[in-house]
Amino acid sequence: MAKSKPVLNVALVGYAFMGRAHSNAYRQVNRYFTDCPYEIVPKVLVGRSAGPLAEAAGQLGWQESSTDFAATIRRSDIHLVDISTPNDSHFPLTMQALDAGKIVLTEKPLAMTSAEARQMAAKAAALKRPSLIWHNYRRCPAAMTAAALIADGKLGTIQQVRAVYLQDWLTDDACPWLWRMDAGVCGSGAHGDLNAHLIDMTRFLTGLEFSEVVALQETFIKQRRKPDGSGLGTVNVDDAFLFLARLSNGATASYEATRVAAGRKNYNRIEINGTRGSLVWNFERMNELEYFSFDDEPRVQGFRTIMCMNGGAHPYAGSYWPDGHIIGYEHTFVNSLYDFLVCLKNGTDYRPNFSDGVANQEVLDAALLSAQRKAWVTVEQSQHFAGRAEPTRVAAKNAGL
Ligand SMILES: NC(=O)c1ccc[n+]([C@@H]2O[C@H](COP(=O)([O-])OP(=O)(O)OC[C@H]3O[C@@H](n4cnc5c(N)ncnc54)[C@H](O)[C@@H]3O)[C@@H](O)[C@H]2O)c1
Repeated sequence: MAKSKPVLNVALVGYAFMGRAHSNAYRQVNRYFTDCPYEIVPKVLVGRSAGPLAEAAGQLGWQESSTDFAATIRRSDIHLVDISTPNDSHFPLTMQALDAGKIVLTEKPLAMTSAEARQMAAKAAALKRPSLIWHNYRRCPAAMTAAALIADGKLGTIQQVRAVYLQDWLTDDACPWLWRMDAGVCGSGAHGDLNAHLIDMTRFLTGLEFSEVVALQETFIKQRRKPDGSGLGTVNVDDAFLFLARLSNGATASYEATRVAAGRKNYNRIEINGTRGSLVWNFERMNELEYFSFDDEPRVQGFRTIMCMNGGAHPYAGSYWPDGHIIGYEHTFVNSLYDFLVCLKNGTDYRPNFSDGVANQEVLDAALLSAQRKAWVTVEQSQHFAGRAEPTRVAAKNAGL
């Protein structure tokens, strides 16, 4: 008989987009990764409205639901707490869960400002609590492979990074006003939402940090209809946000995040150019990697496309299907969770953790400050960024949460 694994019970806050993605990961991690060191139990789904919450709990596979976050995190049978709510709630909910003795996994961007992010990372460190920030794109087999190839020196010295994250769902002015357009709730628009992933991918793939940035942003549609029919809501965040960066080895880098690039759905692409070659990864072809090497014989030089689902060669591939049978978006969360649980078991640091969230937030803040000042800003100067608007702190004000 198989040896039983220690059980970890999870409480998840939020049950819409990310709530669904994370719920799936908790249900699937033990199914695909038979060597997962823990048995994960989706125990309590937490939200604000009892009716829809109970319905979501049933559909997403949670044993219980609760509208009382404080009571949930007081429970001794809850081990992991997952914060999958809008950005302004990450700080208060994470801090409360850490204080209650829980291991906390939090969505990106980690906080509303780097000052908040630093407090979160400091508390997790002081309590010696492992942490995770859900930058799931790192866990595509192709992205992991790209990082390994770069670490092995296959690209030589990194000289340029070129990254874009393009969506188009806000091109239509009929799209209603949402929390993602309220600086008090989300901090920034496409920038915090999409550039956060590009910043993480750059740090992950190259191992480099950001030194300084200069940014440009635009909001094309400044008011949108509120979904409850109560009039127009003001869009006080960017629709598009571009910035240039200098990386810690002197490399140049460019970033563009937008939600108004007509025809682009989730075009998350990064190209890295080094002295010996280049790599390109594009989420919409997430299982593939484009690779060019000057080390190839000149007459066959050119970009080649590598299918990164070969169980003998690529991370995670062997836990799924026979070679070439590709995986999808949902599996990036399963893979992240698996790696986190292995680190938890071994007592090693999972990356990206809250410290990575701080480094990421400092770049986000520096770019926001640069856009405000219309000038180059060093990442150290990010501490002068005070936020786009006073966070509404919905979660903190809500009695139950
Ligand atoms: N890792 C990724 O690829 C990725 C993708 C999308 C979103 N995100 C991040 O995930 C977080 C949630 O985004 P989403 O797309 O799931 O949003 P969403 O609007 O789809 O869902 C938010 C959920 O949180 C609940 N909620 C809202 N405010 C709350 C509060 N104060 N307290 C408790 N519950 C509250 C809502 O009822 C809903 O269930 C954001 O921080 C976002 O940046 C990450």
